[in-house]
Amino acid sequence: MSRNFAQELIEEIKARVSIREVVADYLTLGKAGANWKALCPFHREKTPSFMVHEGKGIFHCFGCGESGNIFTFLMKMEGASFPEAVEKLAKRAGVELPRDDRGQKNQEPDEHYLLYRVNELAQKFYQAQLFSPEGVTALEYLRKRGLSRAELERLGLGYAPAGWENLIRHLEGRGLSSKLALEAGLIVPRESGDGHYDRFRDRVMFPIHDLMGRVRGFGGRVMDDSLPKYINSPETPIYKKGEMLYGLDLAKEAIRKKDRAIIVEGYFDRISLDLYGFKEAVASLGTAFTEAQARVIGRYSRNIYLIFDADEAGRKASFRALPIFLPAGLLPYLVLMPEGNDPDDLVRKAGAEALESLIASAPRLLDYFLETQIHAAGTDLAQKAAQVRELTQTVALIPMGLERELYLKKLSELSGISLSRLERTILRERIPERQPGRQEAPEKTAFNRLGSEELILVCLVNNPIPELARLMLEQKVPEKVSDSALAQYLLSLSGEIAQKGAGDPVNFFHLLNGSRWEGLAGRALSERSPYAGDQIFEVVKDAIAELDKRKVSEKDSELNQRLSAAKNEGNQELVLELLSEKNRLIQLKRKPTVNRAG
Ligand code: CTP
Ligand code: MN
Repeated sequence: MSRNFAQELIEEIKARVSIREVVADYLTLGKAGANWKALCPFHREKTPSFMVHEGKGIFHCFGCGESGNIFTFLMKMEGASFPEAVEKLAKRAGVELPRDDRGQKNQEPDEHYLLYRVNELAQKFYQAQLFSPEGVTALEYLRKRGLSRAELERLGLGYAPAGWENLIRHLEGRGLSSKLALEAGLIVPRESGDGHYDRFRDRVMFPIHDLMGRVRGFGGRVMDDSLPKYINSPETPIYKKGEMLYGLDLAKEAIRKKDRAIIVEGYFDRISLDLYGFKEAVASLGTAFTEAQARVIGRYSRNIYLIFDADEAGRKASFRALPIFLPAGLLPYLVLMPEGNDPDDLVRKAGAEALESLIASAPRLLDYFLETQIHAAGTDLAQKAAQVRELTQTVALIPMGLERELYLKKLSELSGISLSRLERTILRERIPERQPGRQEAPEKTAFNRLGSEELILVCLVNNPIPELARLMLEQKVPEKVSDSALAQYLLSLSGEIAQKGAGDPVNFFHLLNGSRWEGLAGRALSERSPYAGDQIFEVVKDAIAELDKRKVSEKDSELNQRLSAAKNEGNQELVLELLSEKNRLIQLKRKPTVNRAG
């Protein structure tokens, strides 16, 4: 953590920002009593078990146990660090943060901060070049492709000038090392081993932003027919192509609102669709679609429209998306383009309505796949058997449920093979079952089989009452637990409650950030207390007694060790001293430190 945010600041942000609104930026929320629910973004599921408690400012998933507050939600959702999450939420809350002191001494810069920084500088440089005399050809090219200056600025497009060292010199001028630019993939070592050259030269530049709007990489297109048409940033510590989607930062809002996402192949496709009102479009990054990308999209909407090129290669690519989407319980649509057109061509030639009507008539990819494949087998029976077997396996990728049943039925009708026969084929193939929809019932994730420290935490979080807080302090529980984050939390929360007569467990949640207690505390907040009334005290006292016992036996074995060492050395004095200490310990063991009677 590079910055130490004052606790009041954190509290202020928490008080001002609604967790429901933060979560709603990413997930589609439905009402669940006084709370809200959604499909959990942290594990695969088909029925929502992700709960948002607005009053308590927390989320909790009954399926996978993830839980936390607005800060941890952003951290998990966007892979952000705590300071990044604070910064973002502070902005949202309109809370002023102390001046940015990143990079100063005593402050560890965020691990990747400098990579983001060098990318940001490069993006600004390319952008400035586009609007400079150097960039006239590029600007003209982009104008011909329908992009106004305002749009270009909104999208952050730029121009990498011709020449070998323009960016290098620019970055050096700003004090950024070539090591950093190299790590960001912006420059390439010369083969002579002597120095570097710019990776992107004389190309139109597309910055690739993450969900937080940070530049993670670039794509660069030539302005004529020379090859390669595109050059892209290589994989870097902050740029993993399989996890990102071009334009998702701009599209996420629209995807949620329209409850549909359009996935295209090209940068220009994404941009043109955006210009024609399809802001819910994103582009994969020149690589095969991945599960990670499917999961990200699926968080925003389950209605996914894939647009691939209208040729054989495009069709094949779309089929390869099946094993990516089906196991996630997603059944995307396939938008069939007229031959020779990509989405960019289509909207520019035929307008938004043309695409809209293709979308309206788009079949589910799986239907299209089954229908075209069953015919492809022809009349050879052996071939047909093999084909059906393969198609059955594809259908079996759908998590168990009605959808799978219905598709099997469809396959049975298409192939003329009975449903029961197809079902047996699945069993025989023993396809490992992945069941995102099945989660443990809340009862099963409840608090049985917890250790003493866990029980103490759960009980206090669940019952933040003065009697319990006083017990914690009197019994010096914070000193007895084995973990400093937990100790801090128990001490702060108990102190507050004991002092003021009440306290909100959430207010000290940040003390548990990143520790193994975080999830448990969240669960304790969002689930009904497993204990009631006096039972709570019984449980806590037992747990404290357990901690004491542990301390005593630790001390005991330590004493034994020292004793035998002292004996070996023949140190009589020390032996006597240790023996009397051991005696005291035995007394302690007999007399329970907690008055069990209450
Ligand atoms: N792509 C790539 N490298 C290439 C060709 C393509 O990375 N040599 C990726 C790019 O992300 C590109 C996408 O694949 O946007 C689709 O390629 P293509 O259809 O050839 O390009 P378009 O985006 O349609 O570009 P244009 O319309 O300018 O031809
Ligand atoms: Mn194109």
